[in-house]
Amino acid sequence: MNTKLIDPFGRPIEYVRLSVTDRCDLRCSYCMPRGFSDFEVPEHWLSFDEIERVIGVFGRLGVTRIRLTGGEPLVRKDLPELAARLAALPGIDDLSLSTNATRLARHAAALHDAGVTRINVSLDTLRPERFKEITQGKLEKVLDGLLAAKRVGYHPIKINMVVMAGVNDDEVEDMVDFCIEHDFTLRFIETMPMGDTGRAASRQYVNLQDVRKRLAERYELVAGVMPGGGPARYVRVAGTELRIGFITPISQHFCETCNRVRLSVDGTLYMCLGQDDKAELRPLLRAGASDQDLEEAILAAIARKPERHDFQGRPEQVLRFMSVTGG
Ligand code: GTP
Ligand code: 5AD
Ligand code: SF4
Repeated sequence: MNTKLIDPFGRPIEYVRLSVTDRCDLRCSYCMPRGFSDFEVPEHWLSFDEIERVIGVFGRLGVTRIRLTGGEPLVRKDLPELAARLAALPGIDDLSLSTNATRLARHAAALHDAGVTRINVSLDTLRPERFKEITQGKLEKVLDGLLAAKRVGYHPIKINMVVMAGVNDDEVEDMVDFCIEHDFTLRFIETMPMGDTGRAASRQYVNLQDVRKRLAERYELVAGVMPGGGPARYVRVAGTELRIGFITPISQHFCETCNRVRLSVDGTLYMCLGQDDKAELRPLLRAGASDQDLEEAILAAIARKPERHDFQGRPEQVLRFMSVTGG
């Protein structure tokens, strides 16, 4: 790894999660409050030129992976154009997307042509009424989006399911069958106490170690690996191609291998999902900073990256919703 970005704990930073909007066309119960509309004003959104410039600097510093996130990234107009510009930057060799897939059917082909090769889709239930309850949206659109992505040839396609007690924990096995049928990778996620919504959802927290034991009674689980830059730990279901990933920020946190930072739509660089440490890049960009100035600001920020989240010790701490920093 050639990155110049090494944090105080010796961790090489080679992955930027880029939130292109804090808006979303769904309202997942664990993420955004129902009537929420206090979004960042457009004047504060980084333009495509500004994003390209910042990511270019990250690329020169050694970042190789960019993931487009939101809110819902496909709510941002002309996302394929931005994707193409980022894919063309020197050093960036992995461009991926995390989406709720409601608009994916329309954009899957253009994004693929632009250079996005890997897609992760949030999907917590396969039941339309339940989907409506959790997200306020229509399941059908998400399934259309997923099938369109499959036809276009994305591989892998990963399904992200936040498992919640009494909400969807009875669908774990159905989701396994669905992912085997469609050749999707399945990842289970533990709820995190981000914002009031995340803290409320954490009352339905499910320890994924228990889910893993439950699955092991029904399927033979063997060691598995999966391309990607994230924190999931994988097993494979013997006799199938299905890989199941467990994302366990609470029961078995993965901060010691953290390789990423987050850039939000207003140009704030967040050093950790679970901490408030940040660096504001927008004022620099808009005051005519040179690339050298940006490099220095990024290096100084990485030098302040916290060791880990403190979701258990101080669950009240993170006031921003997940939609601000994109998971
Ligand atoms: P790949 O492994 O490259 O496919 O991507 P990923 O798993 O990093 O991306 P994705 O957007 O699908 O992330 C899935 C979920 O993992 C997010 O929504 C978060 O819930 C969780 N997650 C990702 N990165 C972190 C992190 O740094 N800390 C914590 N606590 N959770 C994270
Ligand atoms: N806890 C865990 N994951 C969350 N997400 C949003 N809010 C939370 C939360 N409180 C994640 C889910 C979703 C993605 C967009 O963000 O993984 O699929
Ligand atoms: Fe939108 Fe994702 Fe938050 Fe759901 S979890 S409201 S899809 S940003």
